[in-house]
Amino acid sequence: MSSVSRPVSHLDFVTELHRLCFDKPWDRAAFARLLALPTTRLWADAAGFLMCMEAGDALEILTLCVHPEHRRRGHARALLDEMADYARAHRIPAVFLDVAADNAAAGGLYAAAGFDFQRTRPKYYRTARGATDAVCLVKKITF
Ligand SMILES: CC(C)(COP(=O)(O)OP(=O)(O)OC[C@H]1O[C@@H](n2cnc3c(N)ncnc32)[C@H](O)[C@@H]1OP(=O)(O)O)[C@@H](O)C(=O)NCCC(=O)NCCS
Repeated sequence: MSSVSRPVSHLDFVTELHRLCFDKPWDRAAFARLLALPTTRLWADAAGFLMCMEAGDALEILTLCVHPEHRRRGHARALLDEMADYARAHRIPAVFLDVAADNAAAGGLYAAAGFDFQRTRPKYYRTARGATDAVCLVKKITF
């Protein structure tokens, strides 16, 4: 597992993996802009990646993707562990994210990783099936 910040060489990898993981993938230009920001943090291994934004006293998870053929082997858990280690080392007290309320895999993952429900954001995502609620989750980092 490698931990790196803003590696432009990861652009093709993250764009392709995001396309495989989401109905409405972000395009290469969007990832290029994100990776160029000094506040973007990226953890990646051969099967997946986790992208965060570091802002003040928190990390926001922007996206997390594991290749469909490599799921349920602990890749996402390991990436979240690396992110938590980073937050601890940099004394960042909280990590938060929004995720679709009907995303069972993500819900199971974040619950198992110690994230707590904070609130629902009604009709936050527009999908082919209509509007979907988001849940805002937060994990407190202890030093
Ligand atoms: C969500 C996702 C990142 C999980 O990746 P993963 O590498 O398969 O997850 P892990 O193997 O690390 O799973 C760790 C734990 O999360 C939970 N979990 C993972 N997938 C799950 C599923 N499909 N259903 C229920 N719980 C699940 C389990 O508790 C699991 O532990 P276990 O396998 O010992 O039971 C992956 O399914 C994915 O890329 N989905 C599409 C993109 C997405 O929805 N990203 C999250 C929103 S940002």
